Amino acid sequence: MHAEPDPQVAAAATPCQAVDARLQPLLAFESAHSFWNNSLFAACRAGTLTKADFQFVFAQYYLYSKNFTRYLSGLMANLDDDLLRSRLSQNLWEEGGGAAPEKRHAQIFRNFLRGGLGIDIAAIEFASCTKLFVDQFLANCIQRDAQHASAFLSLGTEGIVARMYSILVEGLRKAGVAEEHLEFFHIHIACDDDHAATLHDILCSFREKPEWERMCRKALDLSLCLRRDFFDALMNELARRRIDGHLQRIQAKQSLLTKDIDEARLRFLPAQRSAAPMYANKVEAMNIDFTVDRAPFPAEVIDARVVRIPPHKNNERHKHAHETVFYFVSGTGRVMVDDRWIAVEPGACVFVPRWAVHQSQNQGDTEMVILAITDFYLTGKAFLGDYESTARMKRS
Ligand SMILES: [Fe+2]
Ligand SMILES: [Fe+2]
Repeated sequence: MHAEPDPQVAAAATPCQAVDARLQPLLAFESAHSFWNNSLFAACRAGTLTKADFQFVFAQYYLYSKNFTRYLSGLMANLDDDLLRSRLSQNLWEEGGGAAPEKRHAQIFRNFLRGGLGIDIAAIEFASCTKLFVDQFLANCIQRDAQHASAFLSLGTEGIVARMYSILVEGLRKAGVAEEHLEFFHIHIACDDDHAATLHDILCSFREKPEWERMCRKALDLSLCLRRDFFDALMNELARRRIDGHLQRIQAKQSLLTKDIDEARLRFLPAQRSAAPMYANKVEAMNIDFTVDRAPFPAEVIDARVVRIPPHKNNERHKHAHETVFYFVSGTGRVMVDDRWIAVEPGACVFVPRWAVHQSQNQGDTEMVILAITDFYLTGKAFLGDYESTARMKRS
């Protein structure tokens, strides 16, 4: 599902006209920076994050966002020029909601957390990577001189807002967050070019200083690297949190078998054909013809399936994050595992490591029935991406 491009967003993403020509190499450095390839943005573009994933991401981002006026205040306190200080106060005034403090940006962000993502703000616990990011961010604005802080906050922060928030909005829309809750992002995409221009002017006020461009580039790079590493750390944390429940249950020494699970869910007959397979594909030109059924087991790591391939047909050549053991119930033929072909007959087992390309070929005159025991319920949870597109030729 792709949303139409927002004309407001596209207009705001145009670089500020009044930018000093000497900033151009720095702006080019910023727009080609590896920050833009961080794993959070990749997931937003691909639409692979759920609302629950964004609950974690933006609950963490809240610590950064609610401290924003402190970053500006740090720069302001270190700024010698009173005219530039008063211009910067405009940014602070708008961040604080102007004459309406209930419209301060921190509050609008809280509205988004509550209304858009259903987050209980009082219950948020900040991860150590989040605290570290905000501490470092603050230190770069308060403890460093005004030239460093202005490069850090202009080129490396305000200047990236429109493009950055457009990507995050794309991910939020794809996760089903309603447009009415995205005000925080829209006001920043629309207005922060003015904020960035003020900060650019502050930065350019230092341009006669020795090694101005090199110092600016260093501050810009630092700002982008800190944010890139923070976003990547959030994604790693997200993968870990998805399987946290599994780890806790492993340690709890409690059976997963609950009263509501009846015996029928503990038994599976690979030989029995089901009326509606979980996946099937038939492509005459590629000799593909097979079905997949899933065992009803109440498992949280092991996912057992039965694959059926008619005589002289094969399944799709594919790969995926889960590991698999094939047990050949019937049929003779061969299995491709990356660059090897393994001969199989009834009773044989074949191991397919994760991400190895594989395919089963039925070379005999009887149906090939394979019991495939995988760890899909674990890896399917841990994998941050579109699992189906990695493992299937068509959408089921
Ligand atoms: Fe803001
Ligand atoms: Fe497979």
